[in-house]
Amino acid sequence: MAIISNCTASIIKDAALALKEGHLVAFPTETVYGLGADATNEKAVARIYEVKGRPTDHPLIVHISSLNNLDKWAKDIPEYAIKLARAFWPGPMTLILPRTDLAKDFITGGQDNVGIRVPAHAAALALLKEFEAQAGYGVAAPSANRFGKVSPTTSKAVMDELGNHLSLDDQILDGGSSQIGIESTIIDCTKDVPVILRPGYITSEMIESFMSVNIAKFDSTSNKIMSPGLLEAHYSPNAKVILNGLPKPGDGFIALSDIPTPAGTIRLASPKDDNEYAHELYNVLRLADIKEIKTVQVIPPIEQGVGVAINNRLIKAAD
Ligand code: TXA
Ligand code: MG
Repeated sequence: MAIISNCTASIIKDAALALKEGHLVAFPTETVYGLGADATNEKAVARIYEVKGRPTDHPLIVHISSLNNLDKWAKDIPEYAIKLARAFWPGPMTLILPRTDLAKDFITGGQDNVGIRVPAHAAALALLKEFEAQAGYGVAAPSANRFGKVSPTTSKAVMDELGNHLSLDDQILDGGSSQIGIESTIIDCTKDVPVILRPGYITSEMIESFMSVNIAKFDSTSNKIMSPGLLEAHYSPNAKVILNGLPKPGDGFIALSDIPTPAGTIRLASPKDDNEYAHELYNVLRLADIKEIKTVQVIPPIEQGVGVAINNRLIKAAD
């Protein structure tokens, strides 16, 4: 299997066909690259777990091309969830909703709810539309990394992570570097009010500013998360990640651009703001491993806006 760049209509058609035939297709999204499989094909979905080395009770997000297809996968959808979907889809937001019979235990980890997302990336949307045109219902796609490792934000990173585990009939589509760079905001929509399970680019402030609903704020210092797969140490490079530590010469160093580089450290990133921080984070953690840096010292951004999500990922990377 090779990286396929320049996603023309015929390449997308081939990729959709590969999915229909039960193969895996890694594809770009605006958050991170996903490892896709036909979400109704138990064998194909089993290969996702095998290729990632991921425990099978961790549920998968089903990707669809449009809000119009939501009721195939979810039922009893609260009004606030429809509002969220109208406001932020296609986009970096996953809604957890009560499942229909289409969402089997092998997708939901046996839970009665299912995670759904419409990604905002031209190649991803084209693939999902084509897959649906070929009578597909949705594409299950976790981040395309080995379990516990850093999510890939380029096709090359997918190849480095999974190349040895994929088969010849599987595909990796290239769609440039993921614009946002960290995974979607996951919102539990099975209660009276929405609850953020995993923070992301769509923040509680953004949600509250457009709809008059109070959303439970995500608190990275408490570990009260109801989602399997969100508790463990994650996003971990081989290098040891230390937050707000005392840098030594030879350590890697990541901080916003207005923070000077400590003497003798190797500056890995100087993002000018939080969006750039999110966009670069996973890539520079990979870079640290390529440079065989043993310790990466990180000054996290302030915990507000997308900074909440960056801190959440950094705390897990440092676990
Ligand atoms: O941005 C993203 O969300 C990326 C791209 C590819 O779309 N996908 C992604 O998937 O990050 P994954 O599997 O790496 O992380 C999804 C997390 C998992 O930790 C899983 O436990 C949780 O979402 N999740 C999925 N379905 C769920 C459900 N029904 N209930 C609770 N948590 C769920
Ligand atoms: Mg993941």
